[in-house]
Amino acid sequence: MAQQVKAVIARAKGAPVEVTTIVVPDPGPGEAVVRIQACGVCHTDLHYREGGINDEFPFLLGHEAAGIVESVGEGVTEVEPGDFVVLNWRAVCGQCRACKRGRPQYCFNTHNAKQKMTLLDGTELSPALGIGAFAEKTLVAAGQCTKVDPAAEPAVAGLLGCGVMAGLGAAINTGGVGRGDSVAVIGCGGVGGAAVMGSRLAGASKIIAVDIDDRKLETARTLGATHTVNSRTTDPVEAIRELTGGNGADVVVEAVGRPETYKQAFYARDLAGTVVLVGVPTPEMTLELPLLDVFGRGGALKSSWYGDCLPSRDFPMLIDLYLQGRLDLGAFVTETIELDGVEQAFERMHHGDVLRSVVIL
Ligand SMILES: NC(=O)c1ccc[n+]([C@@H]2O[C@H](COP(=O)([O-])OP(=O)(O)OC[C@H]3O[C@@H](n4cnc5c(N)ncnc54)[C@H](O)[C@@H]3O)[C@@H](O)[C@H]2O)c1
Ligand SMILES: [Zn+2]
Ligand SMILES: [Zn+2]
Repeated sequence: MAQQVKAVIARAKGAPVEVTTIVVPDPGPGEAVVRIQACGVCHTDLHYREGGINDEFPFLLGHEAAGIVESVGEGVTEVEPGDFVVLNWRAVCGQCRACKRGRPQYCFNTHNAKQKMTLLDGTELSPALGIGAFAEKTLVAAGQCTKVDPAAEPAVAGLLGCGVMAGLGAAINTGGVGRGDSVAVIGCGGVGGAAVMGSRLAGASKIIAVDIDDRKLETARTLGATHTVNSRTTDPVEAIRELTGGNGADVVVEAVGRPETYKQAFYARDLAGTVVLVGVPTPEMTLELPLLDVFGRGGALKSSWYGDCLPSRDFPMLIDLYLQGRLDLGAFVTETIELDGVEQAFERMHHGDVLRSVVIL
């Protein structure tokens, strides 16, 4: 029996989000219905609302979630009702050319639920990142459910489902930060803050946090930044070079998603260094760089989708580190809110008041 539950949708570009009733079908083959316990508000939800991702409105927002598997469809073996899971947007297929070459983190054919959730009038919803978890329940592909230790707080665990994993992974997986590296992180919201934390976990010796908001820089210190630069008042490229013996950082993570901050990242890295773009640009943005600089400075210009994570490998491991007190994932939860508080949470995110607002259901 399909169920009716409360959820947050974005009906049209730029319009405030609204709480409404949606229809969640029973899980079909390979699918699962998950009772959501917590879901973080990510900047990508706001990108969807503003039409920056695509125009497949109405969107069912929310995608950084943890919850309990309620029911599973035919053929599902990886999870069962009652399991505590973090939802992921990388349910790897095992069959595509990336998977077959042993690089499942680049899977080109990740799974989402085949059935559609709808409004009461039958209008099909587009779930954000194939998840849609600002909802009492959601329908996903079973592979999108990653079991983790149920001792973890849902509000904290859920954040691994997107932004925090993206930031940790941008530093550790994509950037390959290691012991003794110098790292700069441009934009220290939830994603950039996690890149700072990941750099500390990986043993970076210098971690320079850059933001235009002093409150973010203060938080970045608590997450592991050794130096901070307010790029509203100080040229970040010069500052990062000065702090690295005139050379630039080994790895620069761009966690804003704008051409001007990308250029800062490009010029703030050392020769043969690595730039990691984890911030998501919008379709109209373009980048112009002297090709000779791209060539002459060498190194690697990479982008990082979801921190190149493999949920089944990374989520349980990071939750274990958190439960052992070695990774303060709780630091990202600035406030907990209710389902009807998402629009105001966007507002606070826009004003830089929070790392993460987390909806508790
Ligand atoms: N690649 C991925 O897989 C992935 C996953 C999640 C989010 N993202 C993207 O990462 C970006 C950051 O997300 P978030 O949730 O941390 O957002 P956020 O709003 O919490 O953080 C953005 C931060 O950037 C700072 N900032 C803005 N303009 C700046 C500038 N010109 N220079 C320096 N700092 C600046 C803000 O003050 C803020 O602290 C977004 O573009 C989001 O869509 C990417
Ligand atoms: Zn694949
Ligand atoms: Zn996200």
